[in-house]
Amino acid sequence: MILPIYVYGQPVLRKETEEITPDYPNLKELIESMFATMDKAEGCGLAAPQIGLPIRLVVIDLDTLSDDYPQYKGYRRVFINQQLIEAGEETDSKEEGCLSLPGIHEPVRRPTRIHVKYFDENWQEHDEWVDGFEARCMQHEFDHLEGKMFIDHLAGLRKQMIKGKLTAMLKGNVRCSYRVKTIK
Ligand code: NI
Repeated sequence: MILPIYVYGQPVLRKETEEITPDYPNLKELIESMFATMDKAEGCGLAAPQIGLPIRLVVIDLDTLSDDYPQYKGYRRVFINQQLIEAGEETDSKEEGCLSLPGIHEPVRRPTRIHVKYFDENWQEHDEWVDGFEARCMQHEFDHLEGKMFIDHLAGLRKQMIKGKLTAMLKGNVRCSYRVKTIK
């Protein structure tokens, strides 16, 4: 099922999230709906708060990058109860966007390597270091689970430049190709 995506201004995007257990109701269907919603909106990641649920559940699709980065061929993964354990010292800056912030793309500086723990959809536990787009994407989605958005990383001047777009979103003025749920 394709679900509406909650955009900037929705309180759920600023909430702390709860861990889930294997008996979470209709988890399999929920994961399928998250993938379908992300695909329809042409995103490469979606966190549960973006569909209105304050839980620690994320889907990521890096397969769309696999023409340029063959290591991501078939990469469509589920991350449950993801935790960021530590980050490497090296950082880089790359442009990011977010389905909850339509029309905003800004460079964000983040660590290039991170140590993460999570469960996959089969409740297998993973404990690993990741890098590259995978690390960036996971950090972006991890932020959503902590009530953060990528614009929180921007310096004052950049923030000023997007203020008009954010104000428009709060008024319910959003132009994008997918269904959204604004605060108005
Ligand atoms: Ni996002």
